[in-house]
Amino acid sequence: MLSSGRTHLQSSKAVLAGCARSAGPTIVPNSRSGLSTAALALCSYDARHSASERIKTRRTDLQAVRTMASTSVQSHDSLVKFGDQHVTAGLGRLVNAVLTKGEGSYVTFGDGRKLLDFACGIGVTSLGHCHPKVSKAAADQCMNVVHVQCSIAYHQPYLELIQRLLPMMPHPSLDSFFFWTSGSEAVEAGIKMARAITGRQNIINMQGAYHGRTMGAMAVTKSKTIYSAGFHPLMPGTFTVPYPYWHQLGVPPDTPASELTKTCLNQLNLLLSQATAPKDTAAIIIEPVLGEGGYVPAPAEFLHGLREICDKHGILLIIDEVQCGFGRTGKHYYSEYSGIRPDILLSAKGLANGFPLSAVISRKELTDKLAPGSMGGTYAGNAVSCAAAVATADALKEEKVLENVDARSKELFAALNELRKDPKLAPAILDVRGKGLMVAVEFASPVGSGPYDTFTNPSVPEKLASRVASKCVEKGLLILTTSVYEVIRFIPPLNISKEDLAKGVEIFKEAVYEVVRDG
Ligand SMILES: Cc1ncc(COP(=O)(O)O)c(C=O)c1O
Repeated sequence: MLSSGRTHLQSSKAVLAGCARSAGPTIVPNSRSGLSTAALALCSYDARHSASERIKTRRTDLQAVRTMASTSVQSHDSLVKFGDQHVTAGLGRLVNAVLTKGEGSYVTFGDGRKLLDFACGIGVTSLGHCHPKVSKAAADQCMNVVHVQCSIAYHQPYLELIQRLLPMMPHPSLDSFFFWTSGSEAVEAGIKMARAITGRQNIINMQGAYHGRTMGAMAVTKSKTIYSAGFHPLMPGTFTVPYPYWHQLGVPPDTPASELTKTCLNQLNLLLSQATAPKDTAAIIIEPVLGEGGYVPAPAEFLHGLREICDKHGILLIIDEVQCGFGRTGKHYYSEYSGIRPDILLSAKGLANGFPLSAVISRKELTDKLAPGSMGGTYAGNAVSCAAAVATADALKEEKVLENVDARSKELFAALNELRKDPKLAPAILDVRGKGLMVAVEFASPVGSGPYDTFTNPSVPEKLASRVASKCVEKGLLILTTSVYEVIRFIPPLNISKEDLAKGVEIFKEAVYEVVRDG
């Protein structure tokens, strides 16, 4: 069917329409999924439940409605089974279900569950699902031009987006833009640019950092071995230094930022005299808020120390704000808090509120050194994604979203710190940290990262983070874990209401009490 020259969507619609004609109401609850696989699975379901089943459903209206509901659940289950059979095992899944609708701060699954979403597709749908202005801008763009290959011509949303982003830059020197599709691609571009601009090869990365799963990005990712295990050899020329995170450094959670900074900058200087000479070092890449490594904001003094070392040695500083950027921490970019000047700034995730888009931003003086054609990609800076990003930027401003981040962040921290004070929970909660609406709770663990982990506590239950996350899902809150430690991360929509934030926090608290009580 798909090879007949019709589009994927047209084909799906035709299949669904055909099913709907033959099956009457049984198809309706799932026909919104828009998935061609859904259409195919539903049709095969219908074929198995033809004549006699359909006669029964027409007996009375009430009976028909009941049959429709149960068919809907069965269809959902059969779709999940279909997925389990045909979707690669290389993907993990928090909820083994089909997510059929996203609306503001809520998501609905095909089995009827509706959950408050504190995951936002891992920090992507920052203005909530299907924000009307963003979806409309994308739909309008779809009727104008969808694909303008970046090596063929400019398109208007690309340039409009630059106009929107320029005033948001954490440093006025950042004035040269390249849009790609994913965060990993932005990291690849950053590495390539740093090598081409400096004529050097080596890249220094941070312990605990996550930068993506493609070959270059994977080589600088040091948050968990799952991302690189079995895929070696990785890109050569990468060197890892400690990041100012107390747990990784084996010091108490209340260790002053100045001490963490001193330890890490000292190690960096040692690395530059012991392992990678400055003349061979193209860039230092850092997530200024460690994401997948546990939601740990870098102290301003550490970022300034990196800047100084980079300036001294002609090394470029790549700041990866793929997760912490675009309003997530309460400023357009986290770098604004410290006033640090990135040589290359990477942005993605919330940038287009769910449409695939990443940005690689630098200064013209540097990017003028790149050969035309050395950057690019078939779908780089897609017109629909750029139009969505323009609308996202407008909504961020018009709807005073950063002010909401500030207010909700204070409420979230107040509630979590209050929870931590409860003597029943005190031994179980090691840290509450983050910035804006990128917040984490780190639990204690009886095993930690191994026998040499100073912060293990045999009296607390095992696997607190994943058990609390599962309990939250049962209670109606979608929330994620992160890091090799027992960490839960809060990434709610930036425009979440006071009521929904409070509701999510209540569910989280209940889940923590229940899991700790169960032991
Ligand atoms: C800081 C950071 N950089 C890069 C990436 C990779 O982005 P993507 O998954 O879009 O390739 C991520 C994804 O989580 C990220 O958090």
